Amino acid sequence: MAALRRELLATAEGRVLEIGAGTGRNITGYPAELTELMLTEPDPAMLRRLRRRLQRVHRAAATLCTGAETLPFESDSFDTVVGTLVLCTVPDPDAALREVRRVLRLGGRLLFIEHVRADDPELARRQDRWVRTWRAIAAGCHCNRATLALLDEHFDVGPTYRTADWRGMPSIVRPLICGQAVK
Ligand SMILES: C[S@@+](CC[C@H](N)C(=O)[O-])C[C@H]1O[C@@H](n2cnc3c(N)ncnc32)[C@H](O)[C@@H]1O
Repeated sequence: MAALRRELLATAEGRVLEIGAGTGRNITGYPAELTELMLTEPDPAMLRRLRRRLQRVHRAAATLCTGAETLPFESDSFDTVVGTLVLCTVPDPDAALREVRRVLRLGGRLLFIEHVRADDPELARRQDRWVRTWRAIAAGCHCNRATLALLDEHFDVGPTYRTADWRGMPSIVRPLICGQAVK
């Protein structure tokens, strides 16, 4: 996961927005020469930890307490949006992706790492069986979302994304996709 994050974040450019930034695990992975870094997170407790981390690592970034379904930013105003392990938790991922698309400029990219519904039917059935329990123990995370199909509805994902295996995690959240979705 750390290597996937590093590889993906190194490609962020220009004016960058991160959604569901959590406690800021991505902040040290961004290139130093971004035009602007705006980190958003709806959970005030996580946002406090994110701000403390920014101070600790001496990284300049703006922060804002907001969910991805309503982003208080102008349309076509970001070059890059980043979301890692977020679309599994967002209550309305369709609305979130509509907003992400709105704030991205034409040709702008959503960089994503998400754990997703398994291609293997047996594992997908296990994900369906566990979804309620997992949601309760993992802060609202859905282990069975078909996030790639959803990304494809809003963006041009193309064949460039890669799949990976989230080692050390329970099987129901191990299937990962990582890549960029272009507006
Ligand atoms: C599994 S954590 C991932 C955190 C971080 N992105 C990372 O990669 O470590 C899921 C994050 O999604 C956030 N989240 C929950 N609802 C959200 C929403 N409606 N919009 C944006 N983020 C949301 C949570 O607060 C949490 O920070």
